[in-house]
Amino acid sequence: MNLYRDTHYTFRFADDRLVPRFHLEGVEAGCGVTVFSLTDDKVPARVLAKTRAGADGWVELAEPLVVRAGGGFVAVPTPVYTIRDEVPSDAEGIRLVNRRAFGGDAEADLIEALRAGGYVRTSLVAECAGRIVGHVLFSDLPIITESGTVHALALAPMAVLPEFQNLGVGSQLVATGLNACRERGHRIVVVLGHPAFYPRFGFSSALAAKLRSPFSGDSFMAAELVPGALTGVTGRVEYTPPFGAWV
Ligand SMILES: CC(C)(COP(=O)(O)OP(=O)(O)OC[C@H]1O[C@@H](n2cnc3c(N)ncnc32)[C@H](O)[C@@H]1OP(=O)(O)O)[C@@H](O)C(=O)NCCC(=O)NCCS
Repeated sequence: MNLYRDTHYTFRFADDRLVPRFHLEGVEAGCGVTVFSLTDDKVPARVLAKTRAGADGWVELAEPLVVRAGGGFVAVPTPVYTIRDEVPSDAEGIRLVNRRAFGGDAEADLIEALRAGGYVRTSLVAECAGRIVGHVLFSDLPIITESGTVHALALAPMAVLPEFQNLGVGSQLVATGLNACRERGHRIVVVLGHPAFYPRFGFSSALAAKLRSPFSGDSFMAAELVPGALTGVTGRVEYTPPFGAWV
C-alpha cells in the first residue's frame, strides 16, 4: 500500500461512537484518505471508507463510522495527484521540486535554460492538492548521422519531492510523458538514468549502442516511441547548449 509520508493515523475510543468526521493534523485539503478497520495481526484490516481531506485536514464521511467501545479505525492519507502539461505559473514549484530532489540548483537552472532556449518539447508536472510534487522534461536531442539529422528527445531532468518518492509518481510521469511525446509526433527518447528504473518503460542500453555520446554504459539508454525508429540510426547525439556544463 502506498503511504503518504509513511504516516497513518490511529483512532481509538473508550465508548461506543458514531463518527461522522475526524481530523488529520498536517494533511492538505484534497489528498485522498483511506479508512481501515483497526485490527490485530490475526484479522486482516478492511477498507471502511475512501474519501478526501477537506479544509484544514477535516475528513467528512458519507456514512458515519460505527465504533464499539475499545475499538477504532486507521486513516491513511494517500496522494491524489494529476499529471498535466506545465503552465507558466508552475515555474516556481518546478524549481522547488528539483532543488529538493537533487539538493541543489543545477537541475532547476538547466530547466530554465532549456525553456529560455526554446528546446523544451514536453514538460509535465504532477500536482497534488494544488502543489507541484513531481516534474519531467523532454527536450531536443538531435542525432547527427552521415545521411542527416535524426530528431530525438532527451528525458532530463526528472524529479519527485522526497516525501512523495516511491509512491509511483515518477513512473506515472515517465509513462504519461512518453505517451505525450509519441502523440506529438516524436519517435526517439534518450535518457541518462538509473538502469534499474527506466527499462520498465522500454528504455535499453542496447537500443542506444549505436549512438555516440559523452556517456556510455548501462545508464545511457534509448527508447523507440514508434517501433523500429532507431533501426539503422548510427550517429552522434548532440546535447543542446544548456547541457554544456554537463557533457
Ligand atoms: C528517481 C525519481 C524521480 C523516481 O521517482 P519516484 O516517484 O520515487 O518513482 P516511483 O515511485 O514511480 O518508482 C520508484 C522506483 O524507482 C526506483 N529508484 C528510485 N531512485 C532510484 C535510484 N537512485 N536508483 C535506482 N532506482 C531508483 C525505486 O527503487 C523504485 O523501484 P521499484 O518500483 O522497483 O521499487 C525520484 O526518486 C527522485 O526524484 N530522485 C532524486 C532525483 C533523481 O535522481 N532523478 C532522476 C535522474 S535520472
